[in-house]
Amino acid sequence: MITSTGPLRDNVMAAEWTMQISYDPLLIAVFIHPDAATFKNIKKTKEFGVNVAADEQTPLVNISGGYSRIEIDKLKVRNSFNILKPRYIKAPLISGCIINAECKLVTMKKLGDHTMVVGKVVAIKYDKTKNPLVYHIGKYHRIGSVIESFRQVVKINKMTFEWFFAQADGRFVLKCVGALIKSGKRVFISNYATKNYSYMTIPYMIPKRGSDHAKVLQMYLKQSGLRVKLKHTPIIKRLVVKNKSKIQRINFILFEGKLRSESVIQSKWKSVRTDALLQAITS
Ligand SMILES: Cc1cc2nc3c(=O)[nH]c(=O)nc-3n(C[C@H](O)[C@H](O)[C@H](O)COP(=O)(O)O)c2cc1C
Repeated sequence: MITSTGPLRDNVMAAEWTMQISYDPLLIAVFIHPDAATFKNIKKTKEFGVNVAADEQTPLVNISGGYSRIEIDKLKVRNSFNILKPRYIKAPLISGCIINAECKLVTMKKLGDHTMVVGKVVAIKYDKTKNPLVYHIGKYHRIGSVIESFRQVVKINKMTFEWFFAQADGRFVLKCVGALIKSGKRVFISNYATKNYSYMTIPYMIPKRGSDHAKVLQMYLKQSGLRVKLKHTPIIKRLVVKNKSKIQRINFILFEGKLRSESVIQSKWKSVRTDALLQAITS
């Protein structure tokens, strides 16, 4: 609900086309029809309030979206709006919302039949105890349950777990890129060793954020003495590796590849059936 004041005096309108468009500075864009009283107010006073409706506020949204300030003084409708005092703007704010933001106009741009009205947030209040009202295909809804992002759970031995856990170094998701070089039921593996133990799995590395994954993998393989022709299609495996009660999320971006000189490295093929992680990666 967009609040404003100006030539048409204190007002509120419903605007589903409202969104945050920048973190720093914090900017909010609202797409408003130029015929709306709200538009005329904002054009004059160069400020507005953004009041994100809570899911028990449908009657208020109905009023603010169903009538124009030209028709009735919506904010004065009996048993409806409770007004909050703003700090930095003159437009009123609405009590009971999930967010109240005070905005100063930054720019306006006519795009199609609506005008994009961008405001810089100069004060904001957020009520964590409330849930937002959802408007979808002309009907009001409450938000439902959280959608769990699916990950394949892989039980692995302690040593392997500790290896990846240490590599994750506290990161919520460890992102790896690896080469999937298959030959029947076998897959090509490399040896990774630390002081304490060694571990064999597909040739993989942890790419820097923002790097071209296929390119850095190719370089890594070359440095490891492997001549591999990689396919261009990335495969994604989103896993949770587990050992007892400990877990670590791992995303593998895999590129299938062919070894260019197989005969030299015969000894480094492993049957996928013998290793839970390899099974998960190759399935
Ligand atoms: C749920 C809902 C969402 C709306 N979203 C928008 C919107 O994003 N932009 C817009 O210009 N009008 C939108 N409207 C219509 C305005 O709220 C409506 O035209 C209102 O009467 C304008 O009020 P005013 O003339 O007092 O400013 C919406 C209406 C409803 C019911």
